[in-house]
Amino acid sequence: MANNASRRLVAIYPGSFDPLTNGHLDLISRGARLFDRLIIAILTNTQKQPLFPFDDRIQMIREATSQFENVEADSFEGLLIDYAARRGANAILRGIRAISDYETELQMALLNRRMRPETETIFLMSGEEFSFISSRMIKEIITLGGDVSSFVPEAVAARLRKRFPAQR
Ligand code: PNS
Repeated sequence: MANNASRRLVAIYPGSFDPLTNGHLDLISRGARLFDRLIIAILTNTQKQPLFPFDDRIQMIREATSQFENVEADSFEGLLIDYAARRGANAILRGIRAISDYETELQMALLNRRMRPETETIFLMSGEEFSFISSRMIKEIITLGGDVSSFVPEAVAARLRKRFPAQR
């Protein structure tokens, strides 16, 4: 068994990322400092109807996170803990913006812990300047023709301009 000095900390940062926001990017940059490896994992078999196809979402993530050497983007379907086991991850990273996030996040973390105690969920508080940003609201603004360039990384904004040319 690896001793503490040689143990690698691998975390999964799961989500829909539809699309990636500045809040996600803030969490990724802080996660990249904490963990040896951070795997951003896009859930593909979601019941939510995504605005962006999977290929766009993973491409936007790769472009926006290319500066982090220990960060990769991947996809998963099925249970998150099974994916974490396949990837040899010891942690799941999630962000909490406000108390309203807490209830769902607590429920997911406790269910995941009961199913696979080896994987700890680690919560980071979102940066306060991003605490009001959510992919759901960003999608609404995009579909109503608003400008979201101050809420998303430049790589995402550039792709949005191509995909939704009517955007202000
Ligand atoms: O960005 P989101 O939509 O808040 O992410 C939710 C996500 C992907 C983390 C969650 O829905 C998930 O882990 N789904 C995978 C299925 C699963 O493992 N469900 C049991 C956990 S309660």
